[in-house]
Amino acid sequence: CGIVGYYTYNVRKDLQFVLDCLFNGLKRLEYRGYDSAGVAFDVDVISEENGVFESTGPLIVKEVGKVDALERMTYDIVARDQLDLKRQFRSQVGIAHTRWATHGPPSAVNSHPIPSDPEGQFVVVHNGIITNYNLLKAFLIKHGEVFNTETDTEVIPKLCKFVYDRLAEKLVMEVLKKLEGAYAVLVKSTHYPGELVACKRGSPMILGIKEEPGARRTSFSRLHDAADTKWRHEAIECFIASDASAVIEHTKRVIVLEDNDVLHLCSGGYGIYNTGGDDVEEAVPRVLLTLQMEVEQIMKGGYDHFMQKEIHEQPESLLQTMRGRVQFQRPAVGNPYLNQRIKLGGLAEHGATIRRCRRILLVACGTSFHACLAARQTLEEMCEVPVSLELASDFLDRRGPIFRDDTCMFLSQSGETADTLRALEYAKAHGALCVGVTNTVGSAISRMTHCGVHLNAGYEIGVASTKAYTSQIIVITMMALQLAEDSISKRERRDTIIDELGQLPGKVRRVLMLDSAMRELAEQLRSVNSLLFFGRGYNYATVLEAALKVKEVALIHSEGMLAGEMKHGPLALVDKHMPIVVVATRDGMLKKMESVIQQLLARSAQLYILCNENDESMKQYEEKGCKLIQVPQTVDCLQPVINIVPLQLLSYHLTVLRGFNVDQPRNLAKSVTVS
Ligand code: G6P
Repeated sequence: CGIVGYYTYNVRKDLQFVLDCLFNGLKRLEYRGYDSAGVAFDVDVISEENGVFESTGPLIVKEVGKVDALERMTYDIVARDQLDLKRQFRSQVGIAHTRWATHGPPSAVNSHPIPSDPEGQFVVVHNGIITNYNLLKAFLIKHGEVFNTETDTEVIPKLCKFVYDRLAEKLVMEVLKKLEGAYAVLVKSTHYPGELVACKRGSPMILGIKEEPGARRTSFSRLHDAADTKWRHEAIECFIASDASAVIEHTKRVIVLEDNDVLHLCSGGYGIYNTGGDDVEEAVPRVLLTLQMEVEQIMKGGYDHFMQKEIHEQPESLLQTMRGRVQFQRPAVGNPYLNQRIKLGGLAEHGATIRRCRRILLVACGTSFHACLAARQTLEEMCEVPVSLELASDFLDRRGPIFRDDTCMFLSQSGETADTLRALEYAKAHGALCVGVTNTVGSAISRMTHCGVHLNAGYEIGVASTKAYTSQIIVITMMALQLAEDSISKRERRDTIIDELGQLPGKVRRVLMLDSAMRELAEQLRSVNSLLFFGRGYNYATVLEAALKVKEVALIHSEGMLAGEMKHGPLALVDKHMPIVVVATRDGMLKKMESVIQQLLARSAQLYILCNENDESMKQYEEKGCKLIQVPQTVDCLQPVINIVPLQLLSYHLTVLRGFNVDQPRNLAKSVTVS
């Protein structure tokens, strides 16, 4: 789910601006969920008696489907009720939500904002899951509350009202103490007009701050507490959102809220309190960051879809991942830094501990897991320690053993995936060294790990991950190379890999020229019922990832199979109607892959062979009716970075040709912040 909040004080903004801000923010977050959406904002109406504007309760509008539908519905209501879009407010609060249904099917009533009662005394948008909502619901029902939705969220506004009715102060904090699970919540209330309270635990939330130039500053007093705790900005606009993409067009100055933070916006100031510590009365300092991103990064540029843009950005994103970290030129012999061609600052402090560890565990979900699989062999080869792979959810289900001398690496594009985060908490509690690899600076995984490396691949918006995948493979490879920098026996191999890292962006640029060939292939395959991918060695990951792409965006049944397992079952599926892509690029597995090709041909399969350019041995298969997809060659352990690109293009074109939504595939979300 995605949440957006807007707050202004002493800055005149008309209703049109407030609505634009909320809807544009929601559209930026739509990739996080798009089953249904809703907004709540204050409207003032002119009193028929005296012609004076009077505050009414919040207007809440909710609609099943995409944000566009909600926007249309809101403007219909605005027109019907003759609300004045030019009416200016000196203070205004609005909250909005786009939903990925977990508790209760997508419906208008289950959409957020969810009110505590028909007057909307407390109105809440929520991202995450409240795991003890059943208990809370039973408690509230016992006290006479009637629930209108099937959501877990409804316990929050209801609890707010319950506590408010009994305990006017420290209201949200009291509510938070009762909630278990993960959440990022915005609360507005008729009892506190023009104010906004936000809080988070587990789910991400940032505060963007825009001050009027020359704004006067005085000290800030908390609503129920006279102590001076924070600076107050006399003219201020605040933007609250699940991530920076919804804020960047307004301001680059942001605060990343931490777990158990309660943010209170009122009287032109903000105060942040933390319910986790002993002294919840004292405001806590939080660093004001300046975002290093530009609005262009979250636009499609000249492309039709984000996924297409992100596939084509890979030469640049790979370069960014390596920038300042790889010395591409081989140093002259005798140079004291001969072995130090890779410098990952994030690993410096803990490098020695990782080198001494008993084993390395790579933990991730989805595409990030496939990146772990692709780079595992390099890590094993370089570090000479056992490397285990763990799907975060399975690892948690098993509560697998973790030792103090283990190194656990957590890979996540978003840095917020709930299962990966929970696994991190578990490993940390067991005393392992925890290393994060994420694409999101300030994300929960970046903050909770002991050390780590950012991908620097640039914002990824398409739900299906593409450029983050190739950057993740590069980062694990760079880590492996750095960890083995003292090994003389591995120097030649290390140098070969590093030389090839330098060539990689150029080679990926060449593979992207296969775009129209992949479109033609997609034309041929657009109506198939099933598509299989076979590979082994470094490219087992390639076939799993290709199949995931095809199933998640093109909505075609697809399986990636380890070619070594072919005879143990999958071969039974093969006949002349079964299209199969075989990855047979030139590495230690090529002979075995040729044997696989022979066996599949003997079963009359329709074969598409992904092979290296100018590979003479592949010509014979072309003569037998197989289609070749030819890609440049690189060193074996980096070949998966090249090989996945034409298959990403294939899944993209299949999706477009089949008429499905590329960037927001059915039933999925980009950041899965619920377990
Ligand atoms: C979701 C996304 C995938 C992604 C996976 C893991 O399922 O749709 O594209 O690979 O989450 O996300 P992460 O942010 O942890 O890499």
